[in-house]
Amino acid sequence: MRIVYVNGHFVPEDEAKISVFDRGFLFADAIYEVTSVADGKMIDFEAHMARLKRSMRELDFEISFDNDELRSLHQEIIDQNDLAEGVIYLQVTRGAADRDFNFSEMTGSASVVLFSQVKKLVENPSAKIGASVQLVEDKRWLRADIKTVQLLYSSLVKTRAIKAGFDDVWMHRDGLITEGSSSNVYIVNDQSEIITHQLNDTVLHGITRRAVLAVAESLQMKVIERAFSIEELLSAKEAFATSASGFVNPVVNVENHAIGGGAPGPVSTALRNEYMRTSMKMV
Ligand code: PDD
Repeated sequence: MRIVYVNGHFVPEDEAKISVFDRGFLFADAIYEVTSVADGKMIDFEAHMARLKRSMRELDFEISFDNDELRSLHQEIIDQNDLAEGVIYLQVTRGAADRDFNFSEMTGSASVVLFSQVKKLVENPSAKIGASVQLVEDKRWLRADIKTVQLLYSSLVKTRAIKAGFDDVWMHRDGLITEGSSSNVYIVNDQSEIITHQLNDTVLHGITRRAVLAVAESLQMKVIERAFSIEELLSAKEAFATSASGFVNPVVNVENHAIGGGAPGPVSTALRNEYMRTSMKMV
């Protein structure tokens, strides 16, 4: 049984408890981070915590955390669960209070939860064969840059896509692709340029995105940060997605239309390999 962390205590998962009045439960008033662990070490921990703090600022959370404290909570989860490879989930909610849309009178303090999930990140079979995606309209709120737990739309469309035989969804707004259900997304065009949505309010500022773009630069690949259209996606040479739990994942089929001959291409493959080589050192 896993050991999880809840508000100051490490406890077996079936003893972990959160109030029914917690605003994370009642209002999705909570933010989260997912940090991957490979070979027992966290990847890009500081960057994940920096984004956590940004999410809290954007939502007027009044608490602050010390990075050393957060690091030792993560490390304790790794140690107590013997986690060699997988992810650590951290969620911070505004805390428990009588149900009220106005939170300015709240006196309770934030709830903090951490748990781990074992996951094969390095030897991920889907990365070898490539994934298929369905395209759906992006109907999320317009602050997708804040990593909140209000994930119902993405969860619903991904579930429906899987039922329809796809692996995931990529979302679009006004004919332009924004991101995947839980990943940033990219195409490679005929000139071997990598194109990915620019950072603004409509996409999450991915930690893996940042690392992978740095890797692309180190490999002398050209990167263009702008939105690409559905048409550009369908005629791309390659497509791929990035996330902390997926690293770099090639996409070889969009709406039953083969991309790049239907197999992972050289750019995605090189980026995945180089990202894994460099990120394992980046704790
Ligand atoms: N999701 N876009 C969205 C909507 C995401 O949910 C995620 C990550 C990303 C990639 O961000 P990063 O590289 O920092 O993981 C982009 C996590 C993994 C999740 O919800 O499980």
